[in-house]
Amino acid sequence: MHSEAGRMNVERIKTLSAGRELHMHHYGATSLPFACVGASGLVQKFVELEGQDAGRTFDVLDASGGYGSACLGAGSAVVGQALQRAVTEVGYSTDEVVSGERAALLVRLFGDGGLWTHAFPTGQYHVSGRNSGSEGMELAIRLALESRFDRRRLRPASGREGRDRILAFEGAWHGWTSGLVPLLNRRHYRIGLPEFVETGPYGVQVDHIPFGDLDAARRYFAENGSRLLAVIVEPIQGDAGIQVPPDGYLRQLADTARESGALVVADEVLTFAKTGQFFAMADTAGPVPTDITVIGKSLGMGALSTAMVIARKGLTSRASGTISTSDLRPLTCAVIRDGLEHIVAGGLLEQSAVIGGVLRERLEAELVQAFPDVYREVRGRALMQGIELTESAAAHLPVLREHIIRSGVYVEFMAGAGRRSCGLRYVYPTMRIAPPLVTEHSHVEQIVGSLAEGTRRFRKAQQS
Ligand SMILES: Cc1ncc(COP(=O)(O)O)c(C=O)c1O
Repeated sequence: MHSEAGRMNVERIKTLSAGRELHMHHYGATSLPFACVGASGLVQKFVELEGQDAGRTFDVLDASGGYGSACLGAGSAVVGQALQRAVTEVGYSTDEVVSGERAALLVRLFGDGGLWTHAFPTGQYHVSGRNSGSEGMELAIRLALESRFDRRRLRPASGREGRDRILAFEGAWHGWTSGLVPLLNRRHYRIGLPEFVETGPYGVQVDHIPFGDLDAARRYFAENGSRLLAVIVEPIQGDAGIQVPPDGYLRQLADTARESGALVVADEVLTFAKTGQFFAMADTAGPVPTDITVIGKSLGMGALSTAMVIARKGLTSRASGTISTSDLRPLTCAVIRDGLEHIVAGGLLEQSAVIGGVLRERLEAELVQAFPDVYREVRGRALMQGIELTESAAAHLPVLREHIIRSGVYVEFMAGAGRRSCGLRYVYPTMRIAPPLVTEHSHVEQIVGSLAEGTRRFRKAQQS
């Protein structure tokens, strides 16, 4: 990668700009005026697409990991070799036929002494693969809904027929597909879609309570526990602004749900492998047991879009109801297996916890304390950090973001939880800093330095 700024020729810029017009734009009014034309490790080569600087190329350090998915950075040799191995040796087969590669992966993770059996004891869980986090969450809901039905006797499962509520959380984000919309309580994710009158999909009502508030949860369970089918929770809320719940909250929530007979569904699509361990549904006492856990993003090692639904064995769907062309394809399994082995052998999770700790301290000192008019608070764990904007900075978010990118670091912004109930304060948009697991100390130096520089430029521009 070149680190010097250069220029790109006009024809290439025209193609990039034409491609930008053709790609459906999902972000409302603001479209970033940049293209990325190459990457290696954490470094991405960007080009200005507009204005007098159009064609200028410059390097940015990626502090986003491509929506938190590229855990090994760009151009990983491990991923390259896994793909090569998969294409030349592994072949393809559907989920009707055992695949050697799929079996090797599942036994490594969930078999006797497997990598993840501390959270999912051998023999108690089975697994399905989907294309994306959203699809994984759809399958999770489907399994929860079908747990109400006794397929052998063709009637409602005894004791579960009255369970017609799902509990979700204010600020939750679980994906974009239609079946998931009722889980999102924020107006901007629902406006323009038909209102769900009284009930959500399939006649089940979705209720929302504030995340991290145990008293609110206890009150909810006391009133509705016997009607509750499932609790769906992100162990650290992402889109709500990287909200980390108080110690003990997740275990208490899961215990209370279980006592009420409700299923515990953890959405770990984002948190998977980002919090210094594979699963964030855990505390100092160990893993917090779940009935269904959905993982995605980093699972595909930045090369593939894939998700895994890990569910208790008793949770199944009716015959042929949820077959998917993409269910744990051998090629996907090869990339996951080799990527995970690399993460374990290289101690990348442990390393990310240490580097994330330093990152957090520096974000606190060099951004939140240095620019109190722009940043309000830093929150997060390991390499999943968020810095909430102040109200005034939030009003100029696109400008701030462009200054930061031009200063050499690419970051994303989460919507923030917005207005919350039970007297909890409004949460403004939050910058997400979730760089790949291969982030080193020198990268932290650059990320924090560029963020501070971009913030200074933003401030200066605001004052002039
Ligand atoms: C917590 C959470 N769940 C689900 C999803 C949906 O995943 P995907 O974009 O792969 O469909 C996301 C994506 O941002 C997420 O952050």
